[in-house]
Amino acid sequence: MSILFEPASLKNIKIRNRFVRSATYDGFADEGGYVSAGQRKLLTELAGGGVGLIVSGIAYVHYTGQISPFQNSIAEDRFIPGFKELTNAVHERGAKIALQLFHGGREAKYVRTKSIIPLAPSIIENDPFYRGEHREITEAEIWEIIKAFGDGAKRAKEAGFDAIQVHGAHAYLLSQFLSPYTNRRQDQWGGSLENRLRFHSEIYKDIRKKVGRDYPLFIKIGVQDGFIGGLEFNEGKQAALQMAQLGYDALEISQGLRGERYEGTEYRAHINSPNKEAYYRDWCRDIKSRIDIPIMMVGGLRTLYLMEKIIQNGEADLVSLCRPLICEPGLINEWKNNEHKKAKCISCNKCVDHMYKGKPICCIQNDPDRLP
Ligand SMILES: Cc1cc2nc3c(=O)[nH]c(=O)nc-3n(C[C@H](O)[C@H](O)[C@H](O)COP(=O)(O)O)c2cc1C
Repeated sequence: MSILFEPASLKNIKIRNRFVRSATYDGFADEGGYVSAGQRKLLTELAGGGVGLIVSGIAYVHYTGQISPFQNSIAEDRFIPGFKELTNAVHERGAKIALQLFHGGREAKYVRTKSIIPLAPSIIENDPFYRGEHREITEAEIWEIIKAFGDGAKRAKEAGFDAIQVHGAHAYLLSQFLSPYTNRRQDQWGGSLENRLRFHSEIYKDIRKKVGRDYPLFIKIGVQDGFIGGLEFNEGKQAALQMAQLGYDALEISQGLRGERYEGTEYRAHINSPNKEAYYRDWCRDIKSRIDIPIMMVGGLRTLYLMEKIIQNGEADLVSLCRPLICEPGLINEWKNNEHKKAKCISCNKCVDHMYKGKPICCIQNDPDRLP
């Protein structure tokens, strides 16, 4: 049997294989932020399709961090029962599930519809990759949001999630704090790497205090921005190592702020040969060789033998997939039965276009009439 189908441990949870469904916003939450029947169906299908661990889509922890009207919320206790139904359904099919905790920072453009100006570490004028209005977050608001991450984690635990993953990658608030490009603060939250990581560290401490020592906490961390002049890998790597040292139980390695679409983003397009796959492999290998906690590799993984090699070589402990599982939720079981099967996903990014247009995601290979 391939090593990919051997069980793995993440802190105290056992996962039936090495496959993670990387966090995927689906645009299916109902407008109140509750889990919908459509989401239950989607995640039940994924769990039944053989994936070991599902990371949910972004769930906002504080009303200032909401990015879409169809996004899940974990900002209040009333969301717990809906999530509980979801975690039960996933567990019944043998998978584990983590909730991804999120704050959009300046990207939380949806809050403008409620006359709230999105928050950011600093105001950046003439940013070629971001043009929206935003204002500098105050010290008091920083602490309020840190506390909201801790409260969100506590609710996630109560709702039956096996773990939580803090979203510290891509274009969102934690990446905005870490990147010297978006963080120009002169106080204890900006400047040195230690200061730019203070937000991450305080979030960890608040969560840990509220969920206890034994509950698995993961972070998806962006270790380099997608353009020149942003966070560089040297610092991003140090940040990842510090998160491991602080106590996070697993890291998923991704990129930070986005540059040019799509090559400067976490969803690179047209992954049509193995040499374009695993586009964060070098970062993972480097970080993995310096820490003891498990690493999840994400980014363009499509070919079974390549993933197998990555795990065998000790370059990562788990492989994490997003777009191939939008296209084929049953892909993992299919691979189990036929190692030569090719993933259907061609990374055309029509699913991403759906997301940006505020529509529920789908794959046009399965649903050709639903062009974004
Ligand atoms: C439609 C869509 C939604 C996504 N939503 C999230 C999300 O909620 N949180 C997150 O961390 N990453 C999100 N991502 C990024 C993926 O988790 C993953 O990092 C990226 O797509 C690369 O993996 P892949 O090549 O397997 O798709 C999303 C990607 C897509 C295509």
